[in-house]
Amino acid sequence: MEKRYFIHTYGCQMNLHESEKLAGLLENAGYTLASEPESAEVILFVTCCIRENAEQKVYGHIGALKRYKTENPNVVIAVGGCMTQQKGAAEKLKEKFPFVDVIFGTHNLCDFMRLLEEKSGRKKTLIEVTEEDSESENTPMTRSSFPNAWVNVIYGCNNFCTYCIVPYVRGRERSRAIPDVVAEVKKLVESGYKEVTLLGQNVNSYGNDLKGEGGDFADLLDAIGREVRGKYRLRFMSNHPKDLTERLVAAMARNENACHSVHLPLQSGSNEILRRMNRRYTREAYMEKVGMIRKYMPDCAISTDVMVGFPGETDADFEDTMDLMERADFASAFMFVYSRRQGTPADTMPDQIPEEVSRKRIMEMVAAQNARTAAHSAKYTGRTIEILCEDYDDKKQMYLGRDEYGRMGYFSSDKDERGNFVTVKVTETNGISLYCEKV
Ligand code: SAH
Ligand code: SF4
Ligand code: F3S
Repeated sequence: MEKRYFIHTYGCQMNLHESEKLAGLLENAGYTLASEPESAEVILFVTCCIRENAEQKVYGHIGALKRYKTENPNVVIAVGGCMTQQKGAAEKLKEKFPFVDVIFGTHNLCDFMRLLEEKSGRKKTLIEVTEEDSESENTPMTRSSFPNAWVNVIYGCNNFCTYCIVPYVRGRERSRAIPDVVAEVKKLVESGYKEVTLLGQNVNSYGNDLKGEGGDFADLLDAIGREVRGKYRLRFMSNHPKDLTERLVAAMARNENACHSVHLPLQSGSNEILRRMNRRYTREAYMEKVGMIRKYMPDCAISTDVMVGFPGETDADFEDTMDLMERADFASAFMFVYSRRQGTPADTMPDQIPEEVSRKRIMEMVAAQNARTAAHSAKYTGRTIEILCEDYDDKKQMYLGRDEYGRMGYFSSDKDERGNFVTVKVTETNGISLYCEKV
């Protein structure tokens, strides 16, 4: 009988890429992708716990499967990803959803097929959550985001920002070797991928754990530039302002494939809040980095992550953040309300901010940034740009893709443009979107 799988993925690119690896493992074992969860024999959840609402969403979706599992006892339900790696979380999940078959941690991705086998025929939930990686260089992958491909360069995070759960669920920093990364990028470009995004919680830390023997992130960019030729776009994320060096910015500027686009999470514009977040930079240092980027690449688009409602955030702190966002003139921003995460230092800090205060601040921030984002888009009107076509939007009946700076553009064409670089002229803009005509 044909066996089918379905994967629900939550959270960041790291998880999207991990789902590609899980899909690869399953397809290697003869499984095929089901068109919907109800026709799959294996249903997988790759979870996120960065904020409470991310967890609530996962809980809701797993809970909704209870009846389906009762009616189809042979279906295997498995839960992996960041949620499962929190202290005590696997036991809690098992208690809440006893019908879940397998729970596996972020370090146990490569154990998945073995766990699936071990589980078969057994009734009790199987839990495997370790602190040691089962990660291997040779995990098969079924990539799902052509023409873009994700490539891990560093796993884990050592920064311990006081609000953040990631260091606890992803472990310490582990860099891959430069030759391994270069070989992967080369193979991708040779097989027709047009964009490669290098992934790490903090790519600027790349190489620190190799103790200087493997080179740093600038060396990695140079090696890719030297050894992977052809027309493709190179992106990377995320960057930590404290580790974004002039060496790196220079390496980016001289790499002709590197997009002039930097994601540089700010988090807060208040020095006091930044200190309590353990971000290890000041607003002045942040603006210096922005200046440095613009010195080397005057056209560079800078985007950011920022939050409101960190414990003790005063109106003045919030105004500092608003002020810095204006000065940095971000092309776009992900804006969040601080969410308490158990086990992080910020969770036990005094002066947690009431929800209505945070809500008011986030609305004000989103409105200001939306206007700024729209103003950035408006400057595109009349310009000719190159879009890498990613997909077709059925509702709009237009193709869509991004320019080098990450702006989404829509255009019509009478042929299938997916995977093509297409030259278009921007005729109209709306918020973060550009409407274009092929030239
Ligand atoms: N490693 C990346 C970020 C990963 S999480 C980096 O440092 O850039 C993505 C974003 O989620 C963070 O930049 C932060 O803005 C937000 N975030 C992290 N923890 C959060 C929390 N507890 N509450 C609200 N937002 C949070
Ligand atoms: Fe979290 Fe900070 Fe690490 Fe980013 S750098 S993953 S925000 S601890
Ligand atoms: Fe979420 Fe884990 Fe990414 S907590 S944001 S999926 S690293």
